[in-house]
Amino acid sequence: MELSISKAKFTPKVFILVALILLSTGMLFGTIGGLQYIIPGFLKEALSFEKTRPLHVSSVLFWILFASMGAVLTYLKEHTGKKLYSNNLSRLLFILFVISVVAILIAYCFGVFGGREYWEFPPILSAPIIIGWILFLINFIISVGTLKNQPVYIWMWLTGIIFFLFTFSESYLWLFPYFNNHVVNDMNIQWKSYGSMVGSWNMLIYGSSMYLMTKISGDKSYAFSNKAFILYFAGLFNLMFNWGHHIYTLPTQHYVQYISYSVSMTELLILGNIIYGWKASLTKAQKFFNRDAYRFLVAADVWIFLNLVLAIGMSIPAINVYTHGTHITVAHAMGTTIGINTMLLLAVCYDILKDTCISLDPYQKLMKFGFWLANSSLFAFWIALIAAGVLKSKWQMSSDQIAFSVMMQNLTPFFIVFMISGVLLLIGIVLAIYPLFKNHLACFFTEKNIQ
Ligand code: HEM
Repeated sequence: MELSISKAKFTPKVFILVALILLSTGMLFGTIGGLQYIIPGFLKEALSFEKTRPLHVSSVLFWILFASMGAVLTYLKEHTGKKLYSNNLSRLLFILFVISVVAILIAYCFGVFGGREYWEFPPILSAPIIIGWILFLINFIISVGTLKNQPVYIWMWLTGIIFFLFTFSESYLWLFPYFNNHVVNDMNIQWKSYGSMVGSWNMLIYGSSMYLMTKISGDKSYAFSNKAFILYFAGLFNLMFNWGHHIYTLPTQHYVQYISYSVSMTELLILGNIIYGWKASLTKAQKFFNRDAYRFLVAADVWIFLNLVLAIGMSIPAINVYTHGTHITVAHAMGTTIGINTMLLLAVCYDILKDTCISLDPYQKLMKFGFWLANSSLFAFWIALIAAGVLKSKWQMSSDQIAFSVMMQNLTPFFIVFMISGVLLLIGIVLAIYPLFKNHLACFFTEKNIQ
């Protein structure tokens, strides 16, 4: 590792490598959490659910952030055909992020919390993240040079970087008594920042996917097309307003919720349509030469459709009242972060890390098997969560007063399916990404130039 992050050898690909490590360890923590669903008290002393949940959630969220940073920096270099403005700034960004992630995971292991849901670490650990992100923004803006005649992905990346900085900082406003003392306002701001934060990293991911699709098809007109810019503006609007669907249960203005309801699906619909159209335009040779990345992009398209159906259902206020606080919400969160974000990012990882030091041809069967295993088990995983959520929502609304523990006991068969399919999902993804690690290790030992 030391060699990889030394000045001479540092490239944004190292972000991707760390991202894949976080993805693997994050899924391992998720599996322990899943086991704790079925065996209450499992590893209670050393690693209780209060610890495994944030360990899992933070690891996988940092997988998304690291992979997005690596993708943006690598593709920016390819797009401009020049070096980044400063390799040192991206190296510093990398070091700051690694330091905070390691500190965050250690804090969780020792039961040191202090933050809020999703970012439960002590707030001070967000400081290196904010500083690193400012460096990222500076490096990006100077490396791009001009915004004149830029393709859609440059706009998406710039918007994603700026808004992540804004929303991540905003999610810490509760530290100030002025915000903390007004419960409804505080919760509104909290959920608004979270919803918009997801929209921000979606911008980074969609931008990278647009770049990858343009690269595979060899047709730049995609990235300048009206449809691509409509996706950009829908994403931007969504990023600003879709958070309303997080606050259905708060006593606030209904128009906020209705606007968010009507716009939150448009972005996915357009993205799904773009991938569909792009897929149809490719030649057989283009599909074959980029088969690994292509496979994951197509999988994301299918997951966009499935998640749209679930999201449309959940966004209807009368249904949302039932689904709120059930495993249907977890199915929505994991269905989108795994099915859409992770599939798109894995396509990008394949494109960036493939074949640099060894040929991946001997691993084709393994990668294909891993891909199918991951996607089929994700389907079972997702259905099991939805089924558990439906039963829980029935319990929440029932007047029968069945005890919580009895209801949870009744959900055990679904949690067993969830757990087994979670393990298969983990195995599938690890098999699919193993050749990428092997390739990087080969680079490491042969000291080949991995630029
Ligand atoms: C790419 C892989 C994964 C991603 C991106 C991911 C993402 C997430 C997210 C965002 C949440 C928070 C959900 C919410 O608060 O509503 C979550 C929760 C959880 N995940 Fe995953 N996950 C992944 C894989 C797994 C795997 C393989 C398992 C294994 C069974 C798993 C088990 C869990 C559990 C038990 C929770 C806690 C749910 C609760 O609070 O009741 N995850 N995951």
